Amino acid sequence: PETITIQELANRMSERGVDVIRLLMKQGQMHKITDVIDADTAQLVAEELGHTVRRVAESDVEEGLFDTPDMDAENLVSRPPVVTIMGHVDHGKTSLLDAIRQTNVVSGEAGGITQHIGAYQVTSPLGGKITFIDTPGHAAFTAMRARGAKVTDIVVLVVAADDGVMPQTAEAVAHAKAAGVPLIVAVNKIDKPNADPQRVRTELLQHEIVVESLGGDTLEFEVSALKRTGLETLLEGLQLQAEILDLRVDAGRSAEGTVIEAKLDRGRGPVATVLVQRGTLRPGDIVVAGAEFGRVRALVNDQGGMVKEAGPSVPVEVLGFNGTPEAGDRVAVVESEARAREITEYRSRVKRERQAARGGAAAGRTLAEMM
Ligand code: GTP
Ligand code: MG
Repeated sequence: PETITIQELANRMSERGVDVIRLLMKQGQMHKITDVIDADTAQLVAEELGHTVRRVAESDVEEGLFDTPDMDAENLVSRPPVVTIMGHVDHGKTSLLDAIRQTNVVSGEAGGITQHIGAYQVTSPLGGKITFIDTPGHAAFTAMRARGAKVTDIVVLVVAADDGVMPQTAEAVAHAKAAGVPLIVAVNKIDKPNADPQRVRTELLQHEIVVESLGGDTLEFEVSALKRTGLETLLEGLQLQAEILDLRVDAGRSAEGTVIEAKLDRGRGPVATVLVQRGTLRPGDIVVAGAEFGRVRALVNDQGGMVKEAGPSVPVEVLGFNGTPEAGDRVAVVESEARAREITEYRSRVKRERQAARGGAAAGRTLAEMM
């Protein structure tokens, strides 16, 4: 059932909490400011105090924010694929990403110059662009999916040739299948003397991944992140796979995207790395992400440069949020600050109420455990 705290109700009417409490008292109800009342009671109180009540459902507030149809077929442009690298611990995901980026993040960071943004774009030898997301792991991937954020077009499954299919390899396969995302196999560490790529292929069969050399249709590449071999062929393969997917979106519409990561930067305030998925994001746009909103002050690309716009599949750091959103939050541009406020206030309230409900449940569990 819909509920609201007395404090929240008072805030939204710009009334004093004590006046709400007094009014309820007149009706024979004793309450503290932190008490929760149901929506019908809240409506009576508000009307009694001379306010007009408009009860909004989530569907109303969120309406038209996401997945609104693209305008015209003729506005559709092809966009780069968004690729996520997954695989078992230590199989070389980060090394592969770094090798592809051809900058050694570790040595760069030692100099204290490079700022690491969790997503970047490269150009394949065939000329097409490819966006890579450096997700911290499967948990983040799952969290994003749980929030309805589908960001990945292709999963690259990294399997170390000297170690073979391991538990998290199998997990990654399951994630990709559940998300309906095509998977490409990168057999890594083939430079190692004990590398056995054939074993990787046969082990993958148990997870219903049949690679090309075994007569299946899953693309496979042998690579060495360490020696930087096989990377160009992998990038070509990714571009070809993307061409089959025929990824097209409207670049002209207002932007939609997803927060890949976000942090509170000492000098710059809240900084959110956003993957733009449709439309084009520009400074001055009013954006909402989860329970936060802001006016875009600046956009910073994966090279650390300021840009005037970010189109589909482009990852950018967005400066200007009033608070720090969360990874997996979906981003949308709205027409006014009033609308942004309406949406984010609604979401914060829902969030608070859910947390309060969870807190109660947790306390209950603890009590039960003590008995
Ligand atoms: P987590 O993030 O901990 O899951 O690991 P990861 O999958 O990102 O692996 P990471 O890139 O950190 O590599 C793990 C170890 O394998 C490091 O010591 C790398 O130097 C080594 N390594 C990665 N790729 C290769 C390769 O192609 N050949 C060899 N010989 N070693 C590699
Ligand atoms: Mg890593």
